[in-house]
Amino acid sequence: MIAATNIVWHDSAVSKQQRRDQAKHTSCIVWFTGLSGSGKSTLSVALEQYLFERNYRVYRLDGDNIRHGLNSDLGFSAADRTENIRRIGEVAKLLVDSGTIAMTAFISPYQADRDLVRAMVEPGEFIEVYVECSLATCEQRDTKGLYAKARAGTIPEFTGISAPYEAPIAPDITINTERQTVEPALAELVHQLQQRGVLRAA
Ligand code: ADX
Repeated sequence: MIAATNIVWHDSAVSKQQRRDQAKHTSCIVWFTGLSGSGKSTLSVALEQYLFERNYRVYRLDGDNIRHGLNSDLGFSAADRTENIRRIGEVAKLLVDSGTIAMTAFISPYQADRDLVRAMVEPGEFIEVYVECSLATCEQRDTKGLYAKARAGTIPEFTGISAPYEAPIAPDITINTERQTVEPALAELVHQLQQRGVLRAA
């Protein structure tokens, strides 16, 4: 829904393809989804560094960071999470248009919200990466101490405890962080992205 009237779309003189040609790689959204503590941030940080060092144009949007600024008005109700993901999707879409590989690390617990972002961009520009890790392991890691608080009832609507997480129905890529450490997980992810033509062949 567009609230404003009398607005006209202006095309840029520089196209997405020209930007991609200059960057010497394609642009897309690599969308990480998974439970809190599953390893989305760790894996996306590692991928961002790996690609940056190889002269890729990359930029990462991260759950906790975006909630400090752009989405500081949003909480964790289902409606707020939907709006959170919609805005992230729009920002990521702009990054794709700029010729950048956008990486996003948000729980993004609802399939419909992730599908909405997929529909915002061209076919093939949205790559859903399921960071697979059981709730038991995430809870055991409890890197931020939030699961303990959620169990104690001091954080309402906590994903996996008192709010749902819908695992992707057909993720483009699945990386299991329970069975492998960061380095092999990154290697597998890079391999998968090469196979999809997102990254140059090794
Ligand atoms: S999302 O569900 O809307 O995609 P997002 O990724 O932006 O969530 O933020 C999740 C982060 O917020 C978690 O990693 C955690 O640090 C923090 N957080 C605080 N409250 C909650 C909650 N109720 N459920 C999940 N995460 C929460």
